[in-house]
Amino acid sequence: MTEPGGYRLERDIEAYLDEASALHGAIFDRPWSRDALQDLLVMSGTDGAVILSGAREPAFAGFVLFQCIGDFAEILTLAVLPDHRGRGLGRILMQQALECARDTGAAKLLLEVQDGNLPAIQLYESLGMTAFDRRRNYYRTADGSHADAILMQLFFDN
Ligand SMILES: CC(C)(COP(=O)(O)OP(=O)(O)OC[C@H]1O[C@@H](n2cnc3c(N)ncnc32)[C@H](O)[C@@H]1OP(=O)(O)O)[C@@H](O)C(=O)NCCC(=O)NCCS
Repeated sequence: MTEPGGYRLERDIEAYLDEASALHGAIFDRPWSRDALQDLLVMSGTDGAVILSGAREPAFAGFVLFQCIGDFAEILTLAVLPDHRGRGLGRILMQQALECARDTGAAKLLLEVQDGNLPAIQLYESLGMTAFDRRRNYYRTADGSHADAILMQLFFDN
């Protein structure tokens, strides 16, 4: 599916696990290896999507991993390469997860996000998600300090 700006959505995330793992490792303090991502994809209901840029030689620009199982859907991780941010790609990736949640008849979508991660929190709020809880000191950051996790949810009318 071609998106505005020459980007393309790709559902075969298995073909891009090296790129996804490298991006995850560059952004997050607890990086997920290629094997860890592969293991997640073996879990029931886990799926994802990738955004590629450029028509002739498509290059990896970001990805989302989510799980839709039973009443619940959950965002496992979401990331866009810094050079491609602010172009609507995070929203497009999130919409894939929302579509999966609706298709499987989930009652709600859940995720956790580090306190203070305003780009992500504002993206989630713009999609109708609301914060409902906080896990104190959930994340350990690279400098050894801790940060809270904010839990967010979105209910679906099925
Ligand atoms: C969060 C992230 C995925 C957003 O991706 P993106 O492609 O830049 O987002 P989009 O361009 O689709 O923006 C969608 C909305 O997000 C919000 N947003 C995005 N960047 C923002 C910023 N720098 N400041 C505030 N809000 C921002 C806005 O609400 C925006 O909507 P708008 O364009 O109508 O104003 C990206 O910043 C990222 O990869 N961050 C590092 C990884 C991360 O934090 N992942 C989330 C873990 S829970």
